[in-house]
Amino acid sequence: MDLKTSYLGLQLAHPLMAGASPLVDDMGMVKRLEDAGVSGIVMHSLFEEQITREEQGTLMDMELHANSNAEAVSYFPQPDDFRLGPERYLEQLRRIKEAVAVPVIASLNGTTAAGWLHYAQLMEQAGADALELNVYYIATDAKESAADVEKRTLDVVRTVKAQVKIPVAVKLSPFFSSLAHFAMELEAAGADGLVLFNRFFQPDINVEELLAEPSLQLSGPSDLLLRLRWLAVLHGRIKGSLAVTGGVHDGIGALKAVMAGADAVQMVSALLIHGPERLAQTRATLAEWLEEHEYESLAQARGSMSLLKSPNPQAFTRANYMRILNGWKP
Ligand SMILES: Cc1cc2nc3c(=O)[nH]c(=O)nc-3n(C[C@H](O)[C@H](O)[C@H](O)COP(=O)(O)O)c2cc1C
Repeated sequence: MDLKTSYLGLQLAHPLMAGASPLVDDMGMVKRLEDAGVSGIVMHSLFEEQITREEQGTLMDMELHANSNAEAVSYFPQPDDFRLGPERYLEQLRRIKEAVAVPVIASLNGTTAAGWLHYAQLMEQAGADALELNVYYIATDAKESAADVEKRTLDVVRTVKAQVKIPVAVKLSPFFSSLAHFAMELEAAGADGLVLFNRFFQPDINVEELLAEPSLQLSGPSDLLLRLRWLAVLHGRIKGSLAVTGGVHDGIGALKAVMAGADAVQMVSALLIHGPERLAQTRATLAEWLEEHEYESLAQARGSMSLLKSPNPQAFTRANYMRILNGWKP
């Protein structure tokens, strides 16, 4: 079965990639991903805080110690919070590029269009085939408008695009008022593709300790539904690529994402739970399903269930809302 796809201008044998995760820290895992036939690898992110911290170096360390207000200090990520420092990140990127033949996408994670973004260039020089920008921003300031929040990401995209020649994808959160409009603005700012969606890791409250506790839960297949809707809405409306991240655990999940409009399918939780070999099974199921249903290629399925092509596009919009709610039976 012809599963070929193009993502950010990169030609991939099939859409199944390893999404951003610590899997890439371990060359043994990278090898297992390659053996499982991964079509591309996204590295975990290098964080703005990590870069600025390193650049401010000892000066900042000294200030933190001088202030030694434990509460204030705890807001700053500590060196141990990060897996690889900036230099080691670039080294690992070079090492992975030497070890595998598939495209490697580096990831930058931050919220301001500032000096730290020169790492985009360093990543390009270290051999990254593309960049993923993750603007993981929690808008807690009531004085900041929705337009200001969007401008933040647009400025980051413009700054990075001015520095690199490799393609740039933006990994988005689903929390934008008019996502389709924002997607077009991102494209106008130079984004070559969108990755839907970031998962926000929600803190829980420990009522005994009176502490908000960060919690990281891996995704389940139900996380995919939100992505399917927005892939379906955006497919055919933006010129750039679309990737799904969140809730793809098997071949049928991958197929749904492609039918909704995904050019690439990123998997993380399923690979962390079942091991990189899950990717090979996912690919086999995808190919088998297409063969059994007499498709000639994956391309034939892509976008077939998008808003523009689905036989019942109203399922993705408000139209079915009242019927679903009124039709619920205990
Ligand atoms: C342990 C772990 C580490 C992650 N690290 C990153 C990261 O560094 N950068 C990033 O953009 N996303 C990161 N993610 C998010 C994943 O790339 C992915 O978007 C998310 O887990 C949803 O996909 P999934 O349902 O396939 O897990 C991480 C996820 C996990 C579980």
